[in-house]
Order: sequence, then structure tokens, then C-alpha cells
Amino acid sequence: TESLTVIELSKKIGREPAEIIKKLFLLGVMSTINQVLDKDAIELICADYGVEVEEEIKIDITDLDVFFESAEGNPEDSEERPPVVTIMGHVDHGKTTLLDSIRNTKVTAGEAGGITQHIGAYQVVVENGKKITFLDTPGHAAFTTMRARGAKVTDVTILVVAADDGVMPQTVEAINHAKAAEVPIIVAVNKMDKPSANPDKVMQELTEHGLVSEAWGGETIFVPISALTGDGIDNLLEMVLLVSEVAELKANPKRLAIGSVIEAQLDKGKGSVATLLVQDGTLRVGDPIVVGHSFGRVRAMINDLGRRVKEAGPSTPVEITGLNEVPKAGDRFVVFEDEKTARQVGESRASEAQVNQRSEKTRVTLDNLFDQM
Ligand code: GTP
Ligand code: MG
Repeated sequence: TESLTVIELSKKIGREPAEIIKKLFLLGVMSTINQVLDKDAIELICADYGVEVEEEIKIDITDLDVFFESAEGNPEDSEERPPVVTIMGHVDHGKTTLLDSIRNTKVTAGEAGGITQHIGAYQVVVENGKKITFLDTPGHAAFTTMRARGAKVTDVTILVVAADDGVMPQTVEAINHAKAAEVPIIVAVNKMDKPSANPDKVMQELTEHGLVSEAWGGETIFVPISALTGDGIDNLLEMVLLVSEVAELKANPKRLAIGSVIEAQLDKGKGSVATLLVQDGTLRVGDPIVVGHSFGRVRAMINDLGRRVKEAGPSTPVEITGLNEVPKAGDRFVVFEDEKTARQVGESRASEAQVNQRSEKTRVTLDNLFDQM
């Protein structure tokens, strides 16, 4: 452990907190039982008591990435999984219209009577039965907040550029984000229904940012569309599948689920509600789960059509309840075999987060111990 409070240390070494506080006082430090002590300070006090400090925790169970990345299951069980797509582009170029249009033509038509629910992501089924998952969050938010937390969730980016407006500052920003994340870009040249549409200008301008259309000998796929009329959208979805096939996206539905939080909030009736994207494995109702700094058991799962489901495989977005706290977008989640481990990991992560918060102000280090002497 890197740090302990006075009370925690007192329990570990079987001494009264008051005694430790007194010792710190003699070293010139005024402290309380909640004072956070760092490793050096702990060692100093322990040495004074003649207690050996052992490195008691062998793996850092507060680091969710360790569990996230630990390979699990049989590689032979890995299967093709649907691509996860985000839509990015400049203000007013048609991102929302495109998301709605894809959703309306592909989701509601196929699932008559299904009440589409906003859960921050949805899945569509294309002609040949293949699925595509769309993150229904503004592309920038999805990229920046999630990438800041180290979660790479997107496989393909659709860059929407209005044919009557051309490349704009946020278009360039989106290109930079996608390049930094090494996510392939498909350009959707939108608003082709407008008389003022000038797709050649868009192609020309994007060339300057390294996106050269196949028609001009480059490698970037450009698809003319109208998000408003729906023209070209089938073609766009086909291109998404094509790019995904090249990327050979795989996952193992037989392992315990891991993934990321798309969005989360507190609901008066349901408590903590989180939309999760399953990135590998299969998530099931009843699974013991750690999500960011929260944990619990998956109580109920709802899919993007608002239907209750019992399980969710790779690349599937689902809304879950059952967490003790509200996680943050971009947080990772990991399912554990038993509730005890999930609880242990969850609790140490939660208390570590608290300690980190407190210690920013109150951490006692050897340096400031000496400063005060
Ligand atoms: P922000 O969320 O503000 O960044 O904008 P956005 O990229 O989501 O654009 P949005 O979908 O809101 O579209 C902006 C405007 O362009 C709306 O008035 C749409 O109706 C219109 N629009 C979007 N796509 C098309 C299209 O294909 N053709 C035409 N004619 N208008 C479109
Ligand atoms: Mg929008």
C-alpha cells in the first residue's frame, strides 16, 4: 500500500491511534485520525515501533486495467464482432440527422413496435444480417472524454462534411482526433440534395489533410449522402462493414465481459443507471461487476430498443442498473467470477479514490515531516 490513514495504520499494527498521533506530534506534526500517511511516514512510525513493513498486496487490485487486459478464455473461441462507430464533423454538417436517419430506417423499421430508447448508443442490422453499433454521443465527447480515460471504444469514424460548406475547423479537429486514436475514417459527403453541393471541393480540401479519395488514387472512402432524404446511407453502411472486415474485429463471447461506460446518471427510481458497451465477452444479468469506482451486481439490462435482455455480447450497448454509485463516461468495467472479488476490488478502488482525493491536501511526506521539525 502506498498510503494509509492514522486509523488504518493503527489497526494494522495494533496500536492506539492516539499513540500514533502522539508520535507524530513528537516528530513535529499535528495530525488527526484521518491524516493520510505516505509510505515513508508509515515506515518511519513502524521502525519506531520495531514493526516490519511488509508489501502485503501482491497485485494492485485497484488497477482495473490489470483485469481488463489480462487475457482470458480460449483464443479459439474468438469470433467476428460488430464494429463500433462514432460520427464526427463540424457544427451543423448533419451528424445528428445522420444518426437519426440511420436509426429510423434501420432500427424502427426492422423492429416494428419497438420503442427506441435513448441509451447513448444503438445497434443496427444491415441487409446481410451484419450488425453495426453506433455511439449516439457527440463524436467529440466520445473521443475526448473516453480517450482521456484510456478507453478506446471506436473502431471506425464517419466524418460528416457538408457538401455546401466544405472543410471547417471542427472537421480538421475530428480528423486529428481520429488519427491520434488510429481509427480509420470514412468520409460522408453530406447534404448532396442541396443545389449548392460541391463534393469536388470537399475532396480537394480533405486532400490537404491527408484524406485522399479512392477516385483520386488515395485510400480514403468517400460516400456521397443526404442524411435528410436517406440517399446513400445504405452505401455508407456497406462501406463501414467493408472497413471493419479489413480491421478483422474479433472478440470472445465466452469470456467474462469487459468494456466501457458510454454514459451514466442517477435515476430517482432505479438508482445508478449506466449505459455500457460490452467490448469483449458476454455480460449477463446477475454478473458481479466493477465499473470505474463503483461495483455491484447487474440487476437488470435494457437494450437500445427499451427491451429487457438477459445477456449482451461483444459490441452490444446495454443500460444496466445495480451499481452502488454512478460511474463516469469512459470508465472501464470488468466482470468477476464471484461477488466477493468484485466487492474487494470495488471497495479498494473506491477507498483509493478517496485517499487520493484527501491526500492531495493532507498527505504527510517525509519531506514535510522534516520541514516541520
Ligand atoms: P451540431 O450537433 O450542432 O454540431 O450539428 P449536427 O452536425 O448534428 O447537424 P444537424 O444534424 O443538426 O443538422 C444541421 C442542419 O442541417 C439541420 O437543419 C438539418 O436538417 C440540416 N441537414 C442535415 N443533413 C442534411 C442533408 O442531407 N440535406 C439537407 N438539405 N439538410 C441537412
Ligand atoms: Mg447534433
